[in-house]
This record gives sequence, C-alpha cells and structure tokens, in this order.
Amino acid sequence: MVELSISGTKILSTVLFLYLLVCLVNFPAAEARVRHYRWKVKYEYKSPDCYKKLVITINGGTPGPTIVADEGDTIIVELENNLLTENLAIHWHGIRQIGTPWFDGTEGVTQCPILPGETFKYQFVVDRPGTYLYHAHYGMQREAGLYGLIRVSPRQPEPFSYDHDRSIILNDWYHKSTYEQAAGLSSIPFVWVNEPESLLIQGKGNFNCSMVSEPGVCNTSNPDCSRYVQTVVPGQTYRLRIASLTALSALSFQIEGHNMTVVEADGHYVEPFVVQNLFIYSGETYSVLVKADQDPSRNYWITTNVVSRPNTTPAGLAVFNYYPNHPRRSPPTSPPPAPAWDDVDSRMNQSIAIKARQGHIITPPTTSDRVIVFLNTQNKINGYVRWSVNNVSFNLPHTPYLIALKENITDAFDQTPPPDGYDFLNYDIYSVQNNTNATSSNEIYRLQFNITVDIILQNANTMNKNNSETHPWHLHGHDFWVLGYGKGKFDMYKDPAKYNLVNPIMKNTVAVHPFGWTALRFRTDNPGVWAFHCHIESHFYMGMGVVFEEGIERIGDLPSSIMGCGHTKTSNPH
Ligand code: C2O
Ligand code: CU
Repeated sequence: MVELSISGTKILSTVLFLYLLVCLVNFPAAEARVRHYRWKVKYEYKSPDCYKKLVITINGGTPGPTIVADEGDTIIVELENNLLTENLAIHWHGIRQIGTPWFDGTEGVTQCPILPGETFKYQFVVDRPGTYLYHAHYGMQREAGLYGLIRVSPRQPEPFSYDHDRSIILNDWYHKSTYEQAAGLSSIPFVWVNEPESLLIQGKGNFNCSMVSEPGVCNTSNPDCSRYVQTVVPGQTYRLRIASLTALSALSFQIEGHNMTVVEADGHYVEPFVVQNLFIYSGETYSVLVKADQDPSRNYWITTNVVSRPNTTPAGLAVFNYYPNHPRRSPPTSPPPAPAWDDVDSRMNQSIAIKARQGHIITPPTTSDRVIVFLNTQNKINGYVRWSVNNVSFNLPHTPYLIALKENITDAFDQTPPPDGYDFLNYDIYSVQNNTNATSSNEIYRLQFNITVDIILQNANTMNKNNSETHPWHLHGHDFWVLGYGKGKFDMYKDPAKYNLVNPIMKNTVAVHPFGWTALRFRTDNPGVWAFHCHIESHFYMGMGVVFEEGIERIGDLPSSIMGCGHTKTSNPH
C-alpha cells in the first residue's frame, strides 16, 4: 500500500512536470485568435480641418478603426461598400499576404473592384509584430479619408520597454474632391493638385476659416476638428507609433522640447538613435520612445511640417498634454520652427541612420541574381503629363494581373517585358530631358521564383529646371533590405561595394531623395503579383509604378470573390 502511494505521487509529479514542460515550450506559439471586423464604408460630410467636405468613413469615422492583434492572428474584415456609385478595394499595407496573395486589396493587380452594394470578405494572417497600415487602393480614393492603422503585438518580449503604447496617423488634406483632382491630372492642359490645404494629426487639422467666405462651410468650433491631444503622465515613457499616409507631402514630426528615440521602422526593430525631428514619408511607420521628462506645469506642441517641397501649407498642430494640466490649454510658447524644407542632407542622413537592431538582424544574401535599375522621371506622352519608370508610364489594366496570369488570359495586358534599366552612360540626370521615346504600358516584370533581386531607384530631374522630387517607394508582398543611399548617378561598378550587408534595415517603404539613388534587395519567395510604386497618390495615378510577378504557378485556386471584371477565359468583352 505504502509502496503504491509513493509511486502514485511519483507518477503524478512526473505528469505534472511534463505538462509544465509542454506549456513552456508551447508558450511562444500561444493560441492565435481570429479577429472579426464588420466595416461599413460610405460618404459623409465631415470637417477634419474645420472645412466641410464629403469624406469616406468606415463605421462613421476617419481615420478608420485601428486593427489590434497579436502575431499569428487571423484578421477577417467584412467590408460593405455603401459608396452608392463608387468602387472600392482596401490594401493591408505592410502585411505580406503569405499564402493569400488574392487578399492584398490592390484593384487591378490582385482583385476586381468591390462594387457598390457588395460585401467583400478579406481574410489574412498577421504573421509578424509591428506597426502597419490599411488604406483604399482604388483610384485616388485613399485621400478621401479611407485609411487606418494595424497594430500587431509580439509573442516574445521586446528589446525595449515603455509604460504606454499609443499611435498617431499623420496625413495631409485637400478640400477638392479626389474626382476633381484625378480629372485635372488626366486633362490637357494639365491641372496639378497643388499643395494640400492642411496637415492632419490623427485625423484633425485646423484650416484658417477666415479665408472662406461661404457661410456654414468652415467652422473652427466644429468638434470634427478639435485639436488632437496626447495626454502623458510626468516621468512615464511612451511608445508612439507614428505613421504617415499623406497624399503628397513628406513630413517632419516633432514634439516641442522632447527627444525621440527611434526603435521600430515598418515592423522591424531599429538600432536606437535619437532625433528631434522625425522625417517620415507616405507609407512609412515608425515607433519612437518619448519620456515625459520636461517641466510638467505646462503643455507642449506636437507639430508636423512639410519638407522636400516649398511648405506653403500651415503646420499641423496637436497638444502634448502633461497630466493634470487641462488638455485644451495651449502651450505658452509658439510652435517650434519647421526645418528648412530643402535641406536634403539632413533627410538623407536620417535615412542612412536607420539600421537593424543588434540581435534582431536578418542578414541579406551577399549577392543578387538580377539587378533592375528604375530611372524616375516625368514625361509628356501624347500631350499628357505622366511620371515614368525607365520612360514607361504605368497604366492599370481592367483585368487584374493575378486573374489574367492564373487563368492564362493573354490578351488582358501587354506581354512584352519592360526595360531592366536605362541608358546610364549617356543620360544626364541633372537636366530636363525630352524623353521622346516615352511610352505608357501595362506590361509587368516576371521574376524567377526564389532568387535575389536588387532594385536601384535612380532619381533625376523632372520637367522643370533644377528640380528633383522625393519619392517614397512601397513594395507589396515583401520587405526589402535597404542596402544604401547615394547622391547623383548610381555607379554600377563602384557603388555596390559600399552596400551595407552587415545590418541593413528591412522595410516596405523607402524614400529616394532628390537627384539621389536608393538600393534595395529582396527575395522572390512569396508567390503572387505585387505592385511596387511611389506612395504619393498623384504620382502613382500618373504612372509611377511597376508590377512584379513571382511563382504564379505555385498559387492555388483563386477565390471567386476577387473575380468578375475585365477579360475572361471564354469571352472577350472588348
Ligand atoms: Cu500603401 Cu500600393 O500602397
Ligand atoms: Cu513620387
């Protein structure tokens, strides 16, 4: 009896020990959850910067709801298009859609548009922690207000600590409708969108209503435009996730009197560095740590300013409110001055400073299998002003590439391969060129599966004298290593030797600076059809983009929900 009870205890404790062991081993893979969202998208009158206009809302708001999830969770968004007369598609910016290339949300590339009255179900896994975005990817619809943030928490401890996790989306804002803008951009004579009227911080801006004479249109006491307030407790540390979805502007973000330590960029940990101004380009996300360590008896300004273009748009303003001061109390100082808009060096230096964090480095392959150089220029094609890449301006087809390729519909787009480079020996990037051989096309780059590709973004002069712009390039379906930045023309023979192969950051959006170049590397390991384009809404609309296909033969059956437009296998509507 005694003997038996001892061995009974022994068995029990062994079982318990094994059970605990299993729990510990399994911990990092703790249960992934399904996060289900139902969104109604429609037009509503709103006054984000006090000026009333039609904006696109999700469940009544702009920005839309933040998607909050843990690494490995499945996100389901049932999207109801209540726009009445307008199509819709939403892209999940920074989510690679591994195994679900059909839910990337890029109209014309991965799906047909969602028609008015339809409900479309997106379903995908957020496989990595980090700060990501979502936004409309149909025409220029994003800048009508359809955007929001995705926050994915890690299952492992993070390499830095903080007391609170907050997020702020930055934007610029126009009073004209996206239709008016799109029509102007595709007219002869060309009508440029000009500079935005306001800058928004977390969807709120402040237009000077005294410039509007029409009664009832602009009202500074409208709660839609009440200044955004970030309340902090003295002595505590805040992780601020800063994201930009501007239509045009590059921004400088600052918090008066406070330093910011950059710790994350596009979902990857950054070797920490301190800034007073964070330069941020459309499509980028950063996490910064800020300590509320200044005089707690007052409030401070949070500001955004336009950089890289002459900044005629007034600063975006919000309040960094030290508890328990009143949140509406204006800081006693005037907002900190904007950095010089044309100081390219400071911005280039900040880009270069962003490196992968020690202990979290994913080393890039040391060589590449294919190098593609993308010359960024403006051209006139048949009298229309366009942006182009290697003198080809991109047009979206009416049959999404994913469907056309998968179903072998060869008449859906031009099958000629676009150029892998430009005449780099003779082309002068510093002068206005009349690129008489410029064309527009919907041809795409077919990449071999599982190879390493280098992309060199080469900036150049626009059609105006002594002018080159900043372009934030965004790649769908991938993160890339940022191997280097340079000034002037990329030298194929000398510059690759300067690549950072030790601790390059991985990102999904990166700037090419005026008259400069940026070098990227990625692996073609995600079967799908992926857009790569300038994230400036009007630039992409004017043709500044390309499309990559990789591993199409590995993609399973497409869901029928993405189909129903353009050419089909059996009939040709044109
Ligand atoms: Cu955030 Cu194709 O864009
Ligand atoms: Cu651009």
